[in-house]
Amino acid sequence: MTLVRQATAHHHQSAHEDARNSDVRALAVDALIAEELASLSDADDDYWTFRRGAARRQAHGLSQYPAMMVPPMQAVLMGVVAQAVGDIDSVIDPFVGSGTTLTEAMRLGLSFSGQDINPLAVLISRTKAGPFHLRRLRASAERVVALAGADRGTKVETDFPGIDKWFQPAVAVDLSRIRRAIRTETSLWCRRVLWTALAETVRLSSNSRTSTFKLHIRSADDLEAREVQAVETFTEVLNDVVQRLTEEAATLRESGHLAPGGAYRGRITIDLGDSMDTVPSPGSSPRGHGLLITSPPYGDNTTTVPYGQYSYLPLQWIDLEDIHDRTDSSYLVSTYEIDSRSLGGGRKSALEDVAKLREDCPSLDATLKRLARLPADRSSRVAAFCRDLDSSLDAALAALRTNGYMIWTVGNRRVGGDEVPTDQILTELLGNRGAVLVASIQRHIPSKRMATRNSIASTMRGETILLFRKEG
Ligand SMILES: C[S@@+](CC[C@H](N)C(=O)[O-])C[C@H]1O[C@@H](n2cnc3c(N)ncnc32)[C@H](O)[C@@H]1O
Repeated sequence: MTLVRQATAHHHQSAHEDARNSDVRALAVDALIAEELASLSDADDDYWTFRRGAARRQAHGLSQYPAMMVPPMQAVLMGVVAQAVGDIDSVIDPFVGSGTTLTEAMRLGLSFSGQDINPLAVLISRTKAGPFHLRRLRASAERVVALAGADRGTKVETDFPGIDKWFQPAVAVDLSRIRRAIRTETSLWCRRVLWTALAETVRLSSNSRTSTFKLHIRSADDLEAREVQAVETFTEVLNDVVQRLTEEAATLRESGHLAPGGAYRGRITIDLGDSMDTVPSPGSSPRGHGLLITSPPYGDNTTTVPYGQYSYLPLQWIDLEDIHDRTDSSYLVSTYEIDSRSLGGGRKSALEDVAKLREDCPSLDATLKRLARLPADRSSRVAAFCRDLDSSLDAALAALRTNGYMIWTVGNRRVGGDEVPTDQILTELLGNRGAVLVASIQRHIPSKRMATRNSIASTMRGETILLFRKEG
């Protein structure tokens, strides 16, 4: 009995000691990370703008998905944390989009879990994850292009409201020929690569303008003058995609991250799901992920970046069951369905829903008070976004191990001339859950890129990178 009590007391003492040691260690790692990040901008105060970093090389250029992150920035952030912590082996991104963080995590040889609510994002990310069966892919690409080119069938392989508005009849026939040809491929990864190329082909050959992410019909003159050869476009896009995947695989192979057959050595899960509810469990790392790195949407899909609208037309031509077993046609019941399922997409009762949250989040409360002078939809949009962002935090934290790090890149957009301090709001929401802010970096977004790529130059000029640690 005494022995047991002694052993228990000893156990408690050492557990206490362990916890203290790990706290001291965590603080030292915090300091190391903060110092390392500061030293980068000490040497160059424009460092975080990454003016020349937006070029999308290799796998990063597989698609033109909206609001993609700057690859070298994600690489630097992940690298600094991984180096300082020492034993990070897996990373999670709950808003993975087209997988910028995925590709960078793979280049570092890390395991990765990603999730997105948009099936197109899941398709592109799963394409980037491999396995890189390149010989098979090259043969498949050649065969599918030949098959589509030789197909004389005129049956249109999809139907949805507005098909005649968005596609010229000849384009719909060509896209159908490509779709039929892709369906003959038996390797799932090869089909995903082919669907990824088809998605970009649809974007380039539809009647919607390519200058905006929103669905916006081209002018009558433009439509009249336009000649689209979808099979040719597909051939060019596919060649580019295959080339990029070949180069990406070479990079990964050189660093020893690919097994001889072309499969990535780490574990990768890319899920279709709502990160407000749950995120993929860490699987290979039972303690939880060592790092979360993400960029949630900026705030309001309808006025900033409509990921769902952007994806609506491509998804009409892709076999949804090839993307993920949870994909179904309910995502496509309207052009705004995906956006309304996304963070901030459901505005109903948003102001009432955040009544309690405002008490614990002074910057949200102050923002909503300021916005009260504007038409009510402004404040309900901000409230809906913050409510949903808040609901995503429990699942995100649950996936992270104690003393794991989080890197969130957020934008403070302007609503009615007033800045919504998303960075401060997020800091308070995470602070309420016991996370510690370790570093905060303001970065400019080069205005040219914002204006042309995101069409939101008027609402946002900068982003904040926030780095937190989850406390025990
Ligand atoms: C800023 S983008 C991420 C871009 C990504 N970093 C990249 O480089 O491609 C935000 C993503 O969050 C996704 N999203 C929005 N609401 C979501 C939700 N509730 N659950 C999961 N993903 C969501 C959007 O579909 C979009 O792909």
